[in-house]
Amino acid sequence: MTRRLGLVTESVALWARGRRQHRAWAEHHEHCRALVAGVVADLPRRRTVAVLGSGLLRDIPLSLLRERFERVLLIDAVHLPQVRLAAVFQPNVRLVTRDLSGVMGWLEGKRDGRVDPVADLVADVTLDLVISANLMSQLGWPVADWLDDNPARAAALPSDLPTRCIAWHRDDLARFPRRVVLLTDVEMVERDRSGTAVEHFDLMRGTVLPPQDESWDWCVAPFGEAVADRETVHSVHGWRDFGAAIKR
Ligand SMILES: C[S@@+](CC[C@H](N)C(=O)[O-])C[C@H]1O[C@@H](n2cnc3c(N)ncnc32)[C@H](O)[C@@H]1O
Repeated sequence: MTRRLGLVTESVALWARGRRQHRAWAEHHEHCRALVAGVVADLPRRRTVAVLGSGLLRDIPLSLLRERFERVLLIDAVHLPQVRLAAVFQPNVRLVTRDLSGVMGWLEGKRDGRVDPVADLVADVTLDLVISANLMSQLGWPVADWLDDNPARAAALPSDLPTRCIAWHRDDLARFPRRVVLLTDVEMVERDRSGTAVEHFDLMRGTVLPPQDESWDWCVAPFGEAVADRETVHSVHGWRDFGAAIKR
């Protein structure tokens, strides 16, 4: 199902685009890593850290996490071979392959409803830090595309499932008893060469989030990457303590 949702293809494409756009993306990755490093420095205990949407490990300071925590869980639907290779010789790093939307079985008709994708993590008393690493916006679009491509099955499912997947992730994060960092892009803007915004897309699909601690722009596709005369810029938000922010 991961493959049919396009996540494997997307991971490979993301890896290739990240290499092409190394410079354009560096600032965004650095911003994410610095926010996480600041939180790690402040934590009173560092037993287990879980990275949700660890993917290509570009936006998290893996060396720091490995050094400071007893156990590092890297959780994603897809771990490309280069990531597996990077993790295999690290004794305190474990790769967990998991659907963090919880809906893949439901889409396929194998079950009726969502699976709780974080139940075991919420119950893990050693989990001192959870980092949702640019995953949230990615939970909606593969489901939306799949529903478009499978109209017969889509008729039996909630039409707002992509939005629900994003909102469920927000609610999943709010369940963790200790520190949660959330990093996510929230809006996509396409601009022409005069700087005029020609397209806006709400990547949260209407899901309400509390005020963020930090925000910055991520130039995902500079002019010429996707379209000659358009650049695509995502607005990224970061929360150092998402649990506290959502309770306020
Ligand atoms: C924008 S990437 C961020 C990746 C990573 N943080 C990095 O630095 O490369 C989004 C990640 O979310 C993962 N993802 C998307 N849908 C998922 C799902 N339903 N369950 C688990 N992971 C998912 C993708 O495989 C991808 O690795």
